[in-house]
Amino acid sequence: MALISSLCIFLLVTHFATPIVCHERVALFVFGDSVFDSGNNKYINATADLQGSNYFPYGESFFKYPTGRASNGRLIPDFIAEYANLPFIPPYFEIGKKQLIHGVNFASAGSGCLAETSGAIVLKTQLKNFENVIQLLKRKMGKTESHKILANAVYIFSTGSNDMFASLVPNSTFPYSDREYLQMIMGNLTSVLKGVYKEGGRKFVMFNLGPLGCLPFIRVLNLQIGVKNGSCLEEATNKAKMFNSALPKMLKQLQKQLPGFKYTIFNFFKVFADSIHNPTKYGFTISEVACCGTGPFRGVLSCGGKRQVKEYELCKNVKDYLFFDSVHPTELAYQQYAALLWNGTTDVVAPHNLKSFFESSNSRCPSSLEFLLYMKNKQQCEI
Ligand SMILES: *[C@@H]1O[C@H](CO)[C@@H](O)[C@H](O)[C@H]1NC(C)=O
Ligand SMILES: *[C@@H]1O[C@H](CO)[C@@H](O)[C@H](O)[C@H]1NC(C)=O
Ligand SMILES: *[C@@H]1O[C@H](CO)[C@@H](O)[C@H](O)[C@H]1NC(C)=O
Ligand SMILES: *[C@@H]1O[C@H](CO)[C@@H](O)[C@H](O)[C@H]1NC(C)=O
Ligand SMILES: *[C@@H]1O[C@H](CO)[C@@H](O)[C@H](O)[C@H]1NC(C)=O
Repeated sequence: MALISSLCIFLLVTHFATPIVCHERVALFVFGDSVFDSGNNKYINATADLQGSNYFPYGESFFKYPTGRASNGRLIPDFIAEYANLPFIPPYFEIGKKQLIHGVNFASAGSGCLAETSGAIVLKTQLKNFENVIQLLKRKMGKTESHKILANAVYIFSTGSNDMFASLVPNSTFPYSDREYLQMIMGNLTSVLKGVYKEGGRKFVMFNLGPLGCLPFIRVLNLQIGVKNGSCLEEATNKAKMFNSALPKMLKQLQKQLPGFKYTIFNFFKVFADSIHNPTKYGFTISEVACCGTGPFRGVLSCGGKRQVKEYELCKNVKDYLFFDSVHPTELAYQQYAALLWNGTTDVVAPHNLKSFFESSNSRCPSSLEFLLYMKNKQQCEI
């Protein structure tokens, strides 16, 4: 009896040493392309094709109105925010109306690591916008508190696909060899990561590239080239594989140079390819044809009707489809990818899953396990 009570006192005292109620949340800063863009392109002078998701039926399943997200509903950063107990992360151009302290989304549909790729907000400019946000944050929260937010925050990147698309049809305005081009991409990506690190960022989440050749948009290209069945275009998928083998090397290099730099890679290629080749495993029946678009595979990017091609078809039951438009997955697909990113095993997210990135970052907050232990001990002691 005496032993039990002194054990109880010991447990209670050690657990009281950490605060039990913990309000601090880890911020999420989002960079990249249409996989992540939650509305930034509305505010820039981009081509109609890059503005296309500002029109119905984009957003139809969740928001009920178009937000600029290239899907029928939420994107991966929206689900991650939910799992991390954060509100939706606002697009950079809407921070006047919303809070900064939970993070900001800088992503822009059509963007890439290189300026050549589009009229979208390239990664370098996204870094500049991030630096603007830091100025605001410092004014609002003070230097010390801002520094803490930035050091604890998670920085998530989806970029490179548009750079690779731009290299698919080499011509005189595109004079680079694969090797040179990849070096330029990795070089520019490195400088942006270093820029975020310089501002205090430490935890980086990098998506590798999906099997680009299997997007309905690219299957059409394969048809045009003369491959009658419109199978995946291997050349395009190979471009993604090139990027994917360079990415971990670049990150390992950075980790050597930058003290405290932590990263994890989401094997987007693996989960995306798996869902295309085994759609039923993910609850889909159709993974080659998009829900919204024109022509074979509905692979002509026309969804929304405000692009170069105005006419489009829309499927009846979006739940059956892996692809919402010619390029982008449906909300249901994104939700499953997000869960794997959050909670998945090391074959899809390594060396850390996102959950651990959000938990480990604040030593003053007890983990949920510690909290449960504390409650359990407390109950036993009170009986
Ligand atoms: C927007 O882009 C178009 C086409 O590139 C250009 O003609 C126009 O001047 C731009 N408008 C602004 C406000 O920058
Ligand atoms: C050359 O390739 C670039 C990048 O893919 C493309 O934007 C451009 O239109 C192409 N030019 C010609 C003449 O085909
Ligand atoms: C970044 O890309 C540009 C082309 O947009 C290239 O000229 C430059 O060398 C690249 N930077 C690095 C560090 O690789
Ligand atoms: C499609 O056609 C290509 C080239 O003719 C062939 O290699 C491939 O196996 C075919 N795929 C399917 C699914 O029939
Ligand atoms: C994480 O994994 C647990 C256990 O497998 C599961 O109950 C939970 O729903 C998962 N969370 C997410 C966000 O998928």
